[in-house]
Amino acid sequence: MATVLNDMKITPLSDALGAEVTGINAADLDEDTFARLRDAYHENIVLVVRDQHLTPAEQTAFARRFGEIQYHINKEYLMPGQPEVLILSTEIKDGKNVGVPDAGSDWHSDHSYVDQPTGYTLLHAIKVPKDGGDTEWTNMVAAYETLPDDMKTRLEGLVGIHSFNRLKNPRISVPVLHGHDEEYYKRSPPDSFHPLVRTHPHTGRKALYLSPRFTIGIKDLDEADAQALLDELFAHIRNRDLVYRHRWNVGDLLLWDNRTTIHLACLGVPEGQHRRMHRTTVLGEIPV
Ligand code: OGA
Ligand code: MN
Repeated sequence: MATVLNDMKITPLSDALGAEVTGINAADLDEDTFARLRDAYHENIVLVVRDQHLTPAEQTAFARRFGEIQYHINKEYLMPGQPEVLILSTEIKDGKNVGVPDAGSDWHSDHSYVDQPTGYTLLHAIKVPKDGGDTEWTNMVAAYETLPDDMKTRLEGLVGIHSFNRLKNPRISVPVLHGHDEEYYKRSPPDSFHPLVRTHPHTGRKALYLSPRFTIGIKDLDEADAQALLDELFAHIRNRDLVYRHRWNVGDLLLWDNRTTIHLACLGVPEGQHRRMHRTTVLGEIPV
């Protein structure tokens, strides 16, 4: 059993969002330290926990402390024997991908295309490339707060339409990996509907809840007006002051709160280099 370390240190990472956490072993955290970590998580939106070396079982057990595990709909790349962990990997073995090679290649909040989206995501770096493979996060609380007042008023009561189906979304492309095939997307779950502004269940803070990857329209709004409004909001969240970019180290355990951030896999890992991540998601609440 690892030693309990109670000298947790939390240091802000950037002006946009995020804090670095050192001095803990996530596999062996007492209740009090865990409670402080969770508060810091809600407050900072992204936590970079350094120097973790969790087995898939330990990562799963840690994730369970935040709530119920959300299993990925793509069963192909789940960890054998530990289906709570999804493998993201650029590695190829016997001509086949070892894990999802291109997860998160458009800005998104995890699983927003279902009625009860992800609350927390935990992504653990097992192998990192020398070049490429960064990830970016946007602060959607700050994005909301920096909207003009008349826009905040306009968004009251508006509901976004979120779709897994890339073929319905003119703002994004369809990766070659999925063969462009209609069959793949016919298996999409039905679209879901979420308020464009949601309130965090623990902090009470309001955040914009939409993304270029999944938000394809606005309910009960004329289509042209809806697309124009989405374009305006997507332009607003493109502000780089809202963004933190992470360069990964082996042993990083990144935690992000999907209610208050969207994120992007920057990809760009050169051939011959490899990136492998273990990912676990925890179910959130129905957004309100
Ligand atoms: C994810 C995701 C981004 C990355 O795991 O949900 O979007 O850079 N990952 O791996
Ligand atoms: Mn993601």
